[in-house]
Formats: sequence, C-alpha cells, structure tokens
Amino acid sequence: MTFARIVGTGSYLPRRIVTNDDLARRIDTSDEWIVTRTGIRQRHIAEPDQTSSDLALEASRGALAAAGIGAGEIDLIVVATSTPDFVFPSTACLLQAKLGVKGCAAFDVQAVCSGFVYGLAVADSFVRTGQARTALVVGAEVFSRILDWNDRGTCVLFGDGAGAVVLRADERPGILASVLHADGSHAGILTAPGNVCGGKVIGSPYVRMDGPAVFKFAVRVLDEVARETVAKCGLALGDIDWLIPHQANIRILEATAKRLGVPRERLVATVDRHANTSAASVPLALDVALRDGRIRAGHRVMLQGVGGGFTWGATLVEM
Ligand code: ACO
Repeated sequence: MTFARIVGTGSYLPRRIVTNDDLARRIDTSDEWIVTRTGIRQRHIAEPDQTSSDLALEASRGALAAAGIGAGEIDLIVVATSTPDFVFPSTACLLQAKLGVKGCAAFDVQAVCSGFVYGLAVADSFVRTGQARTALVVGAEVFSRILDWNDRGTCVLFGDGAGAVVLRADERPGILASVLHADGSHAGILTAPGNVCGGKVIGSPYVRMDGPAVFKFAVRVLDEVARETVAKCGLALGDIDWLIPHQANIRILEATAKRLGVPRERLVATVDRHANTSAASVPLALDVALRDGRIRAGHRVMLQGVGGGFTWGATLVEM
C-alpha cells in the first residue's frame, strides 16, 4: 500500500508586523477588544510588491530544504489561495516558474480557509494512486489586499503568510485519511462578493462576514469532521497527539479542542502571532510546531480547515 508522507515543511511571514495598538491608532478598536474576542495580538502584512506566489516561494524553499530534495524532483504543485497573483495563470504555475522548474502538473485550489486541507487531500489522492511521487502543497495568502481597512469587524482578524509541505510516496503510513465537505447554501455568511467584468471590479472585492454565524458554524463542523476522520481510520479521538484547526480565533480553537476532549496543551495555536492567514494558517502552524520540537516522528496530527463556501475538512497525518 502506498501512502503520502510529509517529509518536509516550511513557512514564510512577511517582515512587517502590525500590532493591535497600531490598528487602534487608525480605527475605533482596542488591543483589549481584539485579544479578548479573538486571541490575536499581531499580524504580518506583505509589502505592496509581494504577492502570494512570492510568499509561497519562500515557504516552498523551506519545505524543500527540510525534505532535503531539489525542486526538480517535484511532479505536482498544488497551491491553495483565495488571493492569487492574477485571474490567471494560477499561482501554482507562477510558483513553478519561480522555483525554476517546468513540466510537472501545477494548479490552484480555492476553498478559502479550508484550502490547504483540500489541497492536501487532492495531492494525497495523486500520490496514493501513483499519479505523482513527490508533491508540493502550499497555502499562501495576501488577505490584506481584500480587507476593508476601515471595517473594524473584519480587518483586525486577518494577516498574510504562507506554509508549505512536501509529500512523498512511501510504504510507511503518512496521511491516514481526509474528509472534505461543503455547503454552498451558506455562501453569504463569509464572502468577498466581487468579480471582474469589462476590466472593472463589479460588486465588493472586500471580505464581508457575519461573525457570530461563522463562529457557531465553525465550532460545530470542526467537531463533526474530526470525529468522522478518526472513525474513517478506525481510530479514536484519544489517538490524536496534536490538533491543528484553522487558526481563525482562539475561542473557536479552544471550543473545538474542548468538545473533542483534546487537552489544551495538545492544541497548536499560532493565531495570536499570525492572525487568520486563511489557507496558509494550518501549514504555518504545522511548521512552527514541527520546528520547535513539539510534533515528532510517529505523532498523529489532526489538521482541520473551515472557511468560506462554506467549506470544511480534516486530515489525520502520521508524521
Ligand atoms: N473593535 C471594537 N469593537 C468591535 C470590533 C473591533 N475590532 N469589531 C466589532 N466590534 C463591536 C461590534 O460593532 C459590536 O458592537 P455593538 O454591540 O455596539 O453593535 C460588538 O463589538 C460585538 O460585536 P459581535 O460581532 O457581536 O462580537 P463577537 O463577540 O461575535 O465577536 C468576532 C466578533 C470576533 C468577529 C467573532 O464573531 C468571531 O470570531 N467570529 C468568527 C469569525 C472568524 O473567525 N472569521 C474569520 C474568517 S472565517 C474562518 O476563517 C472560518
């Protein structure tokens, strides 16, 4: 039996840090409000000339170095993003060119904050079925570009960044199971409802959100999909060593861990430093916890996404 194993991770955060106090100097908010409601203390914001593919490139270089392989060995690139460089070509194709390789399959996945988990499930299927041996899966976002910086209800929540993993075909277990879901009837509670027509943006290009509705939905489906995923592997919730939910809000993360009976110290949370980086949040948190030594070989890690669409999903990985 062939598995897709994670053999390297990497991440990248733009240098510029914007704190809650920085935001409070420009809009009617406070560090106290943001920390209490979300756990967020700061976010990284890309420079005007930095795009998602630039962030993806840095994260990918880190993942390839950690895996000890060259870009020429990659035969599939999947980039999860809702903030692509262009309408087309895909960010994955631009990343491929920046990595200096050509020929391998490359495409984007758009599932907003669930994008990385969706991308990982797609790449896992390619590897398990023999269509790819080495896959690069990246979550990369410049969400700062689609925020209304005068809307305190949304702009305080997000940040920019990228995370990447290298998957390789292996006989030893790696990705154990993935479960993906979507329900388009909830499209309206989290949306950037603009499009390009006649060379102009039609509608709003900015994120709009019904915060309380998103909160309730996220906690419910993260709980359900974790149970579904462990059951698919014939395992129990107690077999999870680390829980890495999408980093939206510390209250969502802690409520999910509590419902699942995962101890707080087994929850990886980076939302305080990174804010919500959408498709980048899960691989960023995974990379942090691998590099600081918390996640070790043999540990079982539950990765979870939830976001606009609505989309949600989970992947259980043995490291
Ligand atoms: N600073 C100060 N006050 C604020 C701010 C702010 N940044 N934003 C909103 N408020 C005010 C509101 O105007 C409202 O004031 P009012 O009572 O006078 O009308 C008050 O705070 C309470 O607003 P609520 O929206 O009810 O606050 P809530 O406790 O629900 O917290 C939040 C809002 C943080 C957005 C919460 O609903 C949440 O986290 N929801 C999940 C959304 C999320 O994480 N989205 C990320 C994208 S989705 C995803 O990634 C899955």
